[in-house]
Order: sequence, then C-alpha cells, then structure tokens
Amino acid sequence: MTNNSSLSVIPVIAIDGPSASGKGTVAQLVAEKLNFHYLDSGALYRIVAFAAYKNNIQWNAADKLGELAKSLKIQFNQNEIYLDGDRITEAVRSEEMSRGASEVAIHQPVRSALLDLQHSFRQAPGLVGDGRDMGSVIFKDAMLKIFLTASVQIRAERRYKQLMNKGLSANYEKILADLQSRDERDSQRSAAPLIQTADALLLETSECSIEQAVQFVLNAYQKHQ
Ligand code: CDP
Repeated sequence: MTNNSSLSVIPVIAIDGPSASGKGTVAQLVAEKLNFHYLDSGALYRIVAFAAYKNNIQWNAADKLGELAKSLKIQFNQNEIYLDGDRITEAVRSEEMSRGASEVAIHQPVRSALLDLQHSFRQAPGLVGDGRDMGSVIFKDAMLKIFLTASVQIRAERRYKQLMNKGLSANYEKILADLQSRDERDSQRSAAPLIQTADALLLETSECSIEQAVQFVLNAYQKHQ
C-alpha cells in the first residue's frame, strides 16, 4: 500500500526521538486514548536484526539484509510479535537486538524494504507511529509531528531502572555509553537520520512525567484538528 491521497485523509501522529526517550510508552498511550492504531517501527528493525542473526547474515550485509527484510512474515497481535508464526516478543527486546537494530537500520535497502509495510498501518480512524523517521520520511504528511527527547543521562537512568525493576542486571555506565553510540549512529547515518523536522513540536521529557507527555500530545492533537 502506498501513501496516496485516499490514505492521506487518515490522520497520523508521528512521534520521533532517540532511544529510551519514552516515546514508545507515550505513543501507545496516545493511541489507546484516541482509539488509533499504533506502529512501533523500531520493532521492524529489531525483527530484521533478529532474523539476520538466525540466518547467519551479517548486520553490515546491506543487500542481503534488504532481501531478507522483504521476505519476512511479520505479525503483530496485541502486544505480541510473531515471525514466521513464532513468538519473538522478548527475543527482539534484548540489548543485543537493540544494537543490531541500529546497525541494520543504517542500510537503505532495509529501509526501502520496510516502506510498504509501514504505510499499511495507516488505517481508519488514525495512526500513531513511533520511531526515528515517522515525520521526516514515512509519514511526511502527518497532521501532527512530535520530537520527543530527554537528556542522555536521564534516558540512561530510565533504562537502568527499567532493567532493575525487571530483576535484570544492569550497569549504568555501560547503558550510557551504549545510548551515546546509538544516538550517534542514528543521527549521523545518511539514510533517514534522526532529526527534528522544522514542522515538529519539541517535547523535552527530562523533567516531565509520562502522563504529562501524553497530555501534551493530546492537547496538540486537539489544536491541530
Ligand atoms: O526502544 P529504543 O528507542 O531503544 O529502540 P527502537 O525504537 O525499538 O529502535 C531500535 C533501533 O531501530 C533504533 O536504534 C534505530 O536505529 C532504528 N530505527 C530506525 O532507524 N527507524 C525507525 N523508524 C525506528 C527505529
């Protein structure tokens, strides 16, 4: 499916921002409140990294990864992710696949292979898309674009607490270094780099709660309607 004019009447809220900024949580809650569909575009890059790992394809093999991405049978059901019928929800959330996702995401063949799939999420009554290039590339005509961010130290603290709460071991310094290198890779790449577009509203969440961030997006949506 393409981004044609019949689809463009379906509203899209694009929420982009760096890793661990909380945009996934905010985007899901906004989608729930508005009864909109939700696209976790980062999950697609995680799935490609995971499938490459399973198929012994290197994360730097751009063309092979593009072919692989085209062939994947991906299904989202509630909060679960399936690949070729197998449930891979937790497997794609590992720190290794976080790194793999940001490595495979630099390749244009991978990004092109995932275009139609992302456009197909644009369904009535509307869509909230979360990622790095929702407003800059995939849904350029989104009715509302939000660039959601927080300082890298705050993001590292949040990720650290998340892991501790799950009973997993975590090292703050390592998390911080990892986020810094992913930020750099996401914003320096030539294919769809992470940027705040001129028409996006900045939402700095270093000092605001999830509820306040959700309210900010809902208020902006009301104004843009
Ligand atoms: O949860 P976190 O924000 O760390 O990551 P994610 O949103 O699941 O995305 C994983 C990786 O996929 C990111 O580090 C990006 O490199 C890449 N990505 C992308 O390039 N474009 C998107 N629209 C979404 C994610």
